[in-house]
Amino acid sequence: MRKYFIAGNWKMHKTASEAVALASELVKELKDGPHKYMIAPSFTALDAVSKVVKGTNILLGAQNMSTDEQGAHTGEVSVLQLKDLGVQVVILGHSERRHTYKEDDAMINKKVKLALSHGLEVILCVGELLEEREAGKAEKVCEEQTRKGLAGVSADDLKKVTIAYEPVWAIGTGKTATPEDADAIHKFTRGIIADMYGKAAADAMVIQYGGSMKADNAQALLAKENIDGGLIGGAALKADTFKPIALCK
Ligand code: PGA
Repeated sequence: MRKYFIAGNWKMHKTASEAVALASELVKELKDGPHKYMIAPSFTALDAVSKVVKGTNILLGAQNMSTDEQGAHTGEVSVLQLKDLGVQVVILGHSERRHTYKEDDAMINKKVKLALSHGLEVILCVGELLEEREAGKAEKVCEEQTRKGLAGVSADDLKKVTIAYEPVWAIGTGKTATPEDADAIHKFTRGIIADMYGKAAADAMVIQYGGSMKADNAQALLAKENIDGGLIGGAALKADTFKPIALCK
């Protein structure tokens, strides 16, 4: 049985003190929650939030990371710096990184391997643009991003990887993929993992859905066989809107 993994991606929201306030509320509200949890504040709030979630059932996530361990990379943040702050999980290949900041699969793969080599868990995001979906290419795009993102990742390291299927047209738009459409892509992606790593690895792979997941659609999405959690943006910014998803049965 796969355990649901409910993760909040706070994106470029909240000052350090606002982040601490939300994290403190979530620590209280989710302390008996049945699922695996993560929150990913901005880099600027990681240190402060780390102290709040330390020793709780909420993992500390970062939203991105450099391809390199250290060096002349102005404006970047390295895996060593993240680990130093207590970060346990890193989100890589988010569509905002792919499309706004032009990160390609090779770059994302380098980050995935670096994070894993330092013992971090990785949430690898995949997902198609609206025009790709309309052109019937959703599966092809997800397959390519999955295969290229995981190239060279060992079966052992794969255990530290979660995949997040986030159709780009559903992110922050209020449009959600129907549970059936999302489940079909999740099933397809699980098949790619089976092809790459075998059936047992595919059965164990947690695949989150992301894209306007909210209290009122989470239940229907999570009820699907292949949807194992959520990567939540907008609804993760308040305890009132995150809690019902996080405590969803
Ligand atoms: P959203 O964002 O929930 O606001 O659509 C999800 C994400 O981008 O991870």
